[in-house]
Amino acid sequence: MTRILTVVGARPQFVKASVVSRALARRPGLEEIIVDTGQHYDDAMNRIFFEELGIPRPRRFLGVGSGSHGEQTGRMLAALEAVMLEERPDWVLVYGDTNSTLAGTLAAAKLHLPVAHVEAGLRSFNRRMPEEINRVLTDHASALLFAPTDQAVENLRLEGIAGPTVQLVGDVMFDAALHFAAQPTDALARWGLEAGSFVLATVHRAENTDDPSRLNGIVQALSTLAKTEQVVLPLHPRTAKYLEAYGLRTALEARVTVTPPLGYLDMLTLERAARVIVTDSGGIQKEAFFQRVPCVTLRDETEWVELLEAGWNVLASPLDPQAVVGAVSSARPGRADAQLYGGGRASELIAQALEAGRPTITPTWT
Ligand code: UD1
Repeated sequence: MTRILTVVGARPQFVKASVVSRALARRPGLEEIIVDTGQHYDDAMNRIFFEELGIPRPRRFLGVGSGSHGEQTGRMLAALEAVMLEERPDWVLVYGDTNSTLAGTLAAAKLHLPVAHVEAGLRSFNRRMPEEINRVLTDHASALLFAPTDQAVENLRLEGIAGPTVQLVGDVMFDAALHFAAQPTDALARWGLEAGSFVLATVHRAENTDDPSRLNGIVQALSTLAKTEQVVLPLHPRTAKYLEAYGLRTALEARVTVTPPLGYLDMLTLERAARVIVTDSGGIQKEAFFQRVPCVTLRDETEWVELLEAGWNVLASPLDPQAVVGAVSSARPGRADAQLYGGGRASELIAQALEAGRPTITPTWT
């Protein structure tokens, strides 16, 4: 029996784990131990995902919560090390680029446990983003790297990571979008939205929320757009905190339909029906493409460059609200034939590789 200890903690990881955990459970030779760090702890950011997506209950909940980066990552690191010493897994499985990803990787690497990284090789080439540091360090400490795109494989090669440890499997978020497509919700009616005639916006990146000029630019742009078209914004707690701190919340809510954070099935329903999606999320840029909805990304760069090349996504800086408004107003579909994220079998390929792979690192306790 191969024992896999999976570290999750933040919202996008619950979505990714939902399909991978299913694939792991289908293989009798694998046992999964899910550990939730508690990085995202509000019910709307955590519990609803486990319930709605049928993710097995975590065996451990670390309750780490919020804090500065060092504090949050450090608390997770100490708690994860203790769990790994008790559970003694064959693999540690981590997802994406959050502080939970980095803590899981470091705890495992220090115990000489092999790390498998899902969504390896992504790069924004902006080292000021906490996510970029988390990705780079995780990739360099991983024994098995599951890359979603050709570009990700190439990024790893340029950093000297190549060979059989890197496997191009496609994107697990595509698997998830396909798997849950058949479960639409009443989200349109709930928020008074008409299919094909509204803008769906999300904002949560530290580079946008923590910087008053960028957050103000986003409020300006969304408020201008909302004069001619309904704009709906499911509000991330980080963004809510900074909108209040900078006195921008009232101006935003004067025109924009602001909702609490939504569950995954509600998000898929709104994404499918939106005319345009405006976001700074990595995952939502791809989900827009899965639904063939044009996307405007509120950043200066993106890791998902193939979306720009295929014409489904454009970048617009929040420092230039007029440019954002122009990009959203003129957004059009991209190349209809683009196939960018694999065949919807990434989770299956990951489970297969974990079952087949013989960890080559000897744990510190043997
Ligand atoms: C994190 C990830 C980011 C990912 C995002 C998805 C890092 C460095 N960033 O960003 O890569 O795209 O999750 O959402 O790991 N808060 C609550 N309730 C919650 C969770 C957070 O109120 O359930 C508030 C806290 O005030 C906290 C702030 O949101 O300080 C930010 O949370 P944090 O976990 O630090 O990062 P995110 O911005 O969510």
